Amino acid sequence: MGEPLKLENRPTPQAGPGSVVVKILTAKIVSYLGDVYNGKRKYSLPTPLVPGCAAIGRVAAVGPDATQLSIGDLVFVDIYLRGRDDPTKTALSGVHEGHDEESSRLMRGEWRDSTFAEYAKLPLENCYKLDEKRLLGPKTEGGLGYTVEDLLGMTGQVVSYGGLRSIGIEPGDKVIVSPATGPFGSAAVQVALSMGASVIAMGRNTEALKRLQVIFGTDRLQLVRITNDQRQEMEALARCGLADAFFDISPPMAAGSSHIISGILSLKHSGRVCFMGSLIGEVPIPIMHLTTKNLTIKGKWMYERTDVWKMVQMVESGLLKLGHEAGWVTVEKYKLEQWAEAFSSAAQHAGPGEQVVFTM
Ligand SMILES: NC(=O)c1ccc[n+]([C@@H]2O[C@H](COP(=O)([O-])OP(=O)(O)OC[C@H]3O[C@@H](n4cnc5c(N)ncnc54)[C@H](OP(=O)(O)O)[C@@H]3O)[C@@H](O)[C@H]2O)c1
Repeated sequence: MGEPLKLENRPTPQAGPGSVVVKILTAKIVSYLGDVYNGKRKYSLPTPLVPGCAAIGRVAAVGPDATQLSIGDLVFVDIYLRGRDDPTKTALSGVHEGHDEESSRLMRGEWRDSTFAEYAKLPLENCYKLDEKRLLGPKTEGGLGYTVEDLLGMTGQVVSYGGLRSIGIEPGDKVIVSPATGPFGSAAVQVALSMGASVIAMGRNTEALKRLQVIFGTDRLQLVRITNDQRQEMEALARCGLADAFFDISPPMAAGSSHIISGILSLKHSGRVCFMGSLIGEVPIPIMHLTTKNLTIKGKWMYERTDVWKMVQMVESGLLKLGHEAGWVTVEKYKLEQWAEAFSSAAQHAGPGEQVVFTM
């Protein structure tokens, strides 16, 4: 990593062909972002750059080829960059420059700077127009009464929605989500429930697991503790009934945890596994179990564009809830100059239903 972050004045970016400039209203701070910028998480990033994360903003300027976006539109700013000539080359604006040389070109040139700024320039296709009247309007007028900060809940939802859709989760399926107590993990629990599935939420922390039950309050949610005793975990999972799918969203710290094998061994015939975590190292695969049970293993990095549109539709329809309605609280709001405090607060408030944000 380069030098520590600093706040500076820069010229407002200009929109050209293929781009949009967004006035950022609020931006998400994911729990581990401080560790990305201090180099503890070994994410590759070009420096110097404007850091950032998913955001909600208003279109301030559009390139001449914009077909949908206009000045003033409320938009969800997606930081998942895709190569226009090869969409398999990807990077996360402000967070990670991708996993190969071609992907890294995205952030080393045109799309270097991200959303922790008053104005950000992004590819047109990274801004999803939102129905402002429906989302922010009062309930008395047919709106959902959300705040702009509430809309940032979509950041975690879209990641897990992408993964859950990639393994064809359907109403009635039973999905093990593990670990389910972090920000992305708990969003996966909510999304799976909203998709009509039943969820077995796994986690080490009993209090955090119970909090999930308080937030989501449904008999379609069961809780199982990660104890690192595989037999104990599998017995607890068996009491919940055979699952159709196992959704893993482990952080690097969970390397060596028993929950992955316990989860895979607890699937029914033709079960599906989705790996979305960033576990470091390798996990032994129970080959005979996979073979005889016809299991499918899928890795998933982020989501497809159609996933974002479909998730926005679910949110606008009221099926997928945000904010207080979803048990989600914006614990703290920070200004950009408070970045150090903000990153530390985001790391502390990483439990189910909590988010920390920048407001501009
Ligand atoms: N594939 C993708 O596109 C994608 C996108 C976004 C994020 N991710 C990855 O998803 C990971 C999880 O994100 P998050 O925001 O939910 O959580 P996080 O803040 O990165 O990690 C906290 C979660 O991990 C659990 N955990 C920590 N140490 C553990 C251990 N040793 N064994 C078992 N569980 C452990 C915590 O459970 P306790 O309550 O027990 O501490 C909590 O559930 C991130 O680290 C990120 O790398 C992937």
